[in-house]
Amino acid sequence: MRDVLVSEHVIEAGYNLCGIGACLSLIKRNIAGKILIMLKNLEYRGYDSAGIAVITPENTLDLRKGVGKIDDLKNKLHFDQMVGFVGIGHTRWATHGGVTEENAHPHTDCDGRIVVVHNGIIENYLEIRKELETRGHKFRSDTDTEIVPHLIEEFIKRGNDFYEAFKNAVKKLKGAYALAVVSTYEPNKILFARVFSPLVIGLGTDEYYIASDIPAFLEWTNKVIILEDGDIGYVSQGGVLIENVFLNRRVHRDVTTIPWTKEMAKKGGFPHFMLKEIFEQPQSVSRTILMARKQIDRFLDYLEKAEEVYIVAAGTSYYASLHGQYAFAKYGLRSRAVVASEFIEEVGGFIGNKDLVIGVSQSGETADTLLALRYAKKKGAKVVAITNVIGSAITRISDYSIIMGAGPEIGVAATKTFTAQVAVLNYALIKWAEMHGYDMDDVKRVFLNNIGEKISNVLEKANSLAKKLSEWMVPKSNAYYLGRGLGLPIALEGALKMKEIAYIHAEGYPAGESKHGPIALIEKDFPVISIVLNDHLQEKMLIAIEEMKSRGAYIISVCEEGMKKIQEKSDFIFEIPSGFSNILAPLVYIIPLQLLAYYTAVKRGCDPDKPRNLAKSVTVE
Ligand code: G6P
Repeated sequence: MRDVLVSEHVIEAGYNLCGIGACLSLIKRNIAGKILIMLKNLEYRGYDSAGIAVITPENTLDLRKGVGKIDDLKNKLHFDQMVGFVGIGHTRWATHGGVTEENAHPHTDCDGRIVVVHNGIIENYLEIRKELETRGHKFRSDTDTEIVPHLIEEFIKRGNDFYEAFKNAVKKLKGAYALAVVSTYEPNKILFARVFSPLVIGLGTDEYYIASDIPAFLEWTNKVIILEDGDIGYVSQGGVLIENVFLNRRVHRDVTTIPWTKEMAKKGGFPHFMLKEIFEQPQSVSRTILMARKQIDRFLDYLEKAEEVYIVAAGTSYYASLHGQYAFAKYGLRSRAVVASEFIEEVGGFIGNKDLVIGVSQSGETADTLLALRYAKKKGAKVVAITNVIGSAITRISDYSIIMGAGPEIGVAATKTFTAQVAVLNYALIKWAEMHGYDMDDVKRVFLNNIGEKISNVLEKANSLAKKLSEWMVPKSNAYYLGRGLGLPIALEGALKMKEIAYIHAEGYPAGESKHGPIALIEKDFPVISIVLNDHLQEKMLIAIEEMKSRGAYIISVCEEGMKKIQEKSDFIFEIPSGFSNILAPLVYIIPLQLLAYYTAVKRGCDPDKPRNLAKSVTVE
């Protein structure tokens, strides 16, 4: 199997939006309903069409697919009336060919005996399709995927058994893909393959699940095999067989027990995942700290030995990294946060084998971040990952990984993973600073003992205020978020949330810099959200606020209780309890900003869980 083709750039380009959900019952139980639930659980990834195929007890294929939402398709196609003991399902986000029923997955061979779902991009599909067409294969869609069932069919016709034919087909594919395949040739198996697109196997009671993501089947099992790049195999009565096409041999993959409950992957009574995830932060931060306790020492070793420290990330993770840089700097630990997509140009020339590059990524699959880390590795640097996803790509390219305990984050806009990232970076800093003679007792007391309770208090107070203020925000088209020092990353992240989900142009800015340009836009009732910590920068924040206010801005301040001067100048106040104007600030100051973005989005009629044009993990450069 050595001759599998993989092009370099596709390694960075696994398209991650489609969802695969497949199920095999070992005791002849109908699995169609479960596949439907798996697809519902994967809805958060975004999709434009969906389909399910099962092998019926009479060994025929029942395939139903169409364009639109799963609930509508269920009513139209009666997914719930399908019967089979093995089957596959798919939510599609169009990449090759328009949004049509024909292009929706699953796809079949000419005889309708082999059926395939696919996530990713097969680069060389056109040449394979031409070759197959000359051999008489009839294609029904414009997708790259459809070549797979036809290729398998071709190899079966040449005498291969089902799995052999699949292996030979996969060998011809060039690109990034996750595949699940069932067939009437051997109706007691699901075949799978993963090359640079995520795929996991769930081990249930008398059942196997194969899916793009763990929440798909979490309500039935938390025992998971995380497939690695190049893995190919099948599940059957005989168990799980996995080979690796790159290693060209059979491989063993551990069964991981995922410490997530099914409730964690559901909305838990909240109207949106995002709100649920905002309200989970007391637990997710506390759990992350607990988990970090066991993982932090090796990270400290790397920090100790490093000559230069870089923190690399994208989006929200970058703002958590920027917090890391500011917080580390307060204690004399020099580091530099760098936007992943700029990493090579900005600092690539300085990276050497004595340096440490910390990659921060909630999904662990962001192409920009992976590319930067691979580059750093090539230059000899050590790489440590901070991520929320066990077994994600970032963990496989890093020398060491710290897994956060945030639990699955379904809302596209990052909330609880931001505070979890901040918690891990803070924990490392606290330990490092202690080792270097700093007295960290005050910070530690709050951080280790009652951070959860403090976040709960802020959530409780800020929730109704954010709801109220969101009414006023609804018609606005612009907003500034200003901060200084440790307040700046919070301001930047607050603005990103408003942009991402409420589609209001919101700009985070260093408050001191706001007079050098941004102030030109200020007019009556322009929203200016100021993040004011109770530290030596407070007076300077006051100056910026006064400059904005005197030109008509409406000042919304997130500040500590008792900060009289700031409060007098503000039109709207979110109060934070005292004791947080230090490295812990983002863990509480971000809460009102997350809530404000959420309620503003909902009142503007936007879906905060699935913002337009955005994806949870961006696996393209
Ligand atoms: C996407 C998501 C953001 C996220 C960013 C980085 O743009 O929509 O919410 O912050 O990717 O993702 P990562 O998984 O690397 O943290």
